[in-house]
Amino acid sequence: MIIAVDGPAAAGKGTLARALAAHFGFAYLDTGALYRGVAHAVLKSGASASDEAAALLAAETLNPDQIDPKAIRTPEVSEAASLVAAMPPVRAAILAFQRRFASHPPGDQSGTILDGRDIGTVVCPEADVKLYVTASPEVRAHRRWLELKGSGSGPSEAQVLEDVQARDVRDTDRKTSPMRPAADAHLLDTSDLSIEAAFDVAVALIETSRG
Ligand code: DC
Repeated sequence: MIIAVDGPAAAGKGTLARALAAHFGFAYLDTGALYRGVAHAVLKSGASASDEAAALLAAETLNPDQIDPKAIRTPEVSEAASLVAAMPPVRAAILAFQRRFASHPPGDQSGTILDGRDIGTVVCPEADVKLYVTASPEVRAHRRWLELKGSGSGPSEAQVLEDVQARDVRDTDRKTSPMRPAADAHLLDTSDLSIEAAFDVAVALIETSRG
């Protein structure tokens, strides 16, 4: 069984997808971490995040097991990730890994959950259940700001909102695999819905689909 969880930054899709994977015993892949891993490698090599050749090389040589979970969460890497994610050759290099993961999950679990921007539309259009998790930019910026504050970085909430909006525009307007809900996705707006309530809705949808 394949579950696609898409949506914009800081909408709660990672938290939701992880909780669903734990609940059902499914394998979980955070596909944003792959783009972040590419971006981090490019910046570490000293190249610019807009250098397509450097980004492609980083994508082709990416070892997902060696992505540093902390180093990829900085505002610089977030910004760079949205640049490399707009490059078609980078997306093509990452696509194969995602599809392999979806069809052959490590550990032979009976299902996989992938979260990202284009899982339901491009990576796994055949997914059994598609969720599109969203929330207003203000709510998302507030959550991301709290997260950053907790980890010791100090951008203002207004700055975080600006970053969230800029990334939304880039993720939505790019030509290759723009962020959008699949026609058959279930929309979950977490602006007013708690993650717990969204989790209950998602569990019910997956259980119905499993039969
Ligand atoms: O979900 P995230 O913030 O970790 O994603 C990092 C960047 O990668 C973000 O700009 C969107 C992009 N991304 C993408 O284009 N496609 C995906 N499937 C996942 C993430």
